[in-house]
Amino acid sequence: MSDLPLRVWAVIPAAGRGERFGAGRPKQYAELRGRALIEWSLAPFLARADIAGVVIALVADDPDWPRFRPADSRLIEAPGGAERAASVGNALDALAERGAGDSDWVLVHDAARPCLDPTDLDKLLERGRNSPDGALLAAPVDDTLKRAVGGCVVDTVERRDLWRAMTPQLFRFGPLRQALQAAAASGIAITDEASAIEEQGGRPLLVQGRTDNIKVTRMADLALADAVLAAREH
Ligand code: C5P
Repeated sequence: MSDLPLRVWAVIPAAGRGERFGAGRPKQYAELRGRALIEWSLAPFLARADIAGVVIALVADDPDWPRFRPADSRLIEAPGGAERAASVGNALDALAERGAGDSDWVLVHDAARPCLDPTDLDKLLERGRNSPDGALLAAPVDDTLKRAVGGCVVDTVERRDLWRAMTPQLFRFGPLRQALQAAAASGIAITDEASAIEEQGGRPLLVQGRTDNIKVTRMADLALADAVLAAREH
């Protein structure tokens, strides 16, 4: 172990095509209360002095980003990949080039989650740093879950032990990079970082977060995000 203090980095994958969103431009640039959605998603990280750098993974020659790029010298750009996990992997490569240590911490947060409350970020960092396999914000499943075939119910799924995984997710830099590389090598589809760690036998800690930390996927979610942010202003 080096004597250097451990650093905390953030990674924001923002190279999705947002096909379910259905607007002319990618959802991260949709207007939300006078700012681009991605500006809201970045804000809780840039607001913290203890974040060493924030890597954003973008599609090549993203025409919108230069207009919304916050003026913060800690921002680092990385190329997006074909899948979310590849975008995160590229962002971790950019951090390796900047000397990130294996024991440093990395927070990964969807560019499409503009309603992260800073107190949830505090809670994740505080609890996650004491967890050997990292941690993620999550919420217990409240609805009854159905399994369907051809649009008809074939089964009701026991929800007692089920959680909805959200972001940010917090892991050590070295183990996360290695887990994502292993998943890519074996062709396993990864939709969040925790699942890559799980594939390696890790047991990330669930930190219960606010259910209003929504992911904007469809156009209707934008109105929900607007309402969440408006309520916080009051
Ligand atoms: O598509 P979905 O909403 O699950 O994407 C979650 C996040 O991953 C978004 O912020 C999106 O921009 C990002 N992403 C990415 N590279 C991809 C696909 C998605 O950075 N190839």
